[in-house]
Amino acid sequence: MSTSTEQPLYLRIADRLENMIQAGTLRAGDRIPSVRQFGQQQGVSVPTVMQAYTLLESRRLIEARPKSGFYVTARLAKSLVEPSLPRHKPTRASLEGLSSVFNAVRDTNDPRLVPLGSAVPSDDLVPLEKLARASASIVRRNPAATFRYDPAPGSPALRKELSRRSIDWGCAFEPDDFIVTVGASEALHLALMAVTKPGDTVLVESPGYYGTLSLLAKLKLNVVPVPACICGLELNAVREAVKKYDVAAMLVIPNFSNPAGGFMSESNRRTLLQIADEHDIPIVEDDIYGDLPHQGPRPPCLKALDRSGRVLLCGSYSKTLAPGLRVGYLVGGRHHDQLMELKNTLNLGGPALSAMTVAEFLRSGGYDRHLRKLREAYRLQTCRTREKVAETFPEGTRVSNPEGGLVLWLELPEQVDVLDVYREARAAGINFAPGTLFSPQGLFRNCLRLSCGNPWTPRIEEGIATLGAIARKHAEP
Ligand SMILES: Cc1ncc(COP(=O)(O)O)c(C=O)c1O
Repeated sequence: MSTSTEQPLYLRIADRLENMIQAGTLRAGDRIPSVRQFGQQQGVSVPTVMQAYTLLESRRLIEARPKSGFYVTARLAKSLVEPSLPRHKPTRASLEGLSSVFNAVRDTNDPRLVPLGSAVPSDDLVPLEKLARASASIVRRNPAATFRYDPAPGSPALRKELSRRSIDWGCAFEPDDFIVTVGASEALHLALMAVTKPGDTVLVESPGYYGTLSLLAKLKLNVVPVPACICGLELNAVREAVKKYDVAAMLVIPNFSNPAGGFMSESNRRTLLQIADEHDIPIVEDDIYGDLPHQGPRPPCLKALDRSGRVLLCGSYSKTLAPGLRVGYLVGGRHHDQLMELKNTLNLGGPALSAMTVAEFLRSGGYDRHLRKLREAYRLQTCRTREKVAETFPEGTRVSNPEGGLVLWLELPEQVDVLDVYREARAAGINFAPGTLFSPQGLFRNCLRLSCGNPWTPRIEEGIATLGAIARKHAEP
């Protein structure tokens, strides 16, 4: 008898799985079969498989995630620490000198560049055929309605589906509570127009999404950037800001913020609402990533806790279905009528075909199936990207570890000027979002955002490795 057969069965199973992990057949983030499934496949009892999995856990090769199963642990070449909370004070800043994001945004559409810049699902993750079939069938069945103006509040079919889904957001809105918008961008635009006037000051997250900063600049608003990290806004700084300045509105992303990946706890959300209540400040909530937790149920939105009707909720299907559909929504509460008028003045409605296509997708159950796959893809891609960053970026690099969404926020050693890295990476055919885009004050010069919206391919892997090598060069004393 050979030695291996003398070993207990659970040990042999554990060794076999370990070999597969070491050989890279099973990779970081891969889900391994459930205990029951594995037992059935291999004709082994559940307790034996459980013993093998427990051993692999103690060897730190796999990890159990609540209600989700067992996953191969990321084998980070070095331990990765979360980026630190930005240390700056909440100080008012004008947006007059905000540099144009036009070049960076144009680059994100350049197919020659490795796409680590734009926070969108790659074409491979968009259900192209199903969307094409749904829209073709809608046009065939009802061409007139498809090509008419679709004035606010927009497609009744879509608002009905949004109403149904809002139960998952902790809200239970009526179809008439919604206004269909041209992406979350228009929802944010309308919401800000409703609650501010030029010259006002808006509290924003720091780092903050550059698209919204540009919008605020065009609306001639000032901002108070408040430090934010993986736990969301720093509430002491929020208190300081609202005491010091006459804040007209707050703009927040409580679920998986862009770029920091922040997720606010329920108690922090309640405190934020309390501060807003005390100072009577409206809150514009951007929930564009709410449907994208990497595992577990969809988190509620901030609006679900809003008892005084001060939250205007914005969202879209750009990150979950397809950015080109341009379908978003807005729940404006007491501002609803004013928002309807604004919306119709701006563009006489939105693209009906897109709205009806999304409605059909939501109605048929196709969205939930698609979302399960997409969330798993984003989780896996985020995990692999962190692993590659740990292997290739300079010592001292910090990386976020978000529980949802599709972006990672990196803090490089202090001496690195990310704009130098950006220029060199671009020449090497790689696109990413430099940290300075996320601050009107030019902060985050040693930070960057990586998009994980693309399936893991040799091109993406090599792109990250090359970027890491460029960053290492710039980190040298
Ligand atoms: C936080 C955030 N809000 C809004 C948007 C704009 O979304 P949409 O394409 O739906 O207009 C984006 C897109 O990147 C985003 O990241």
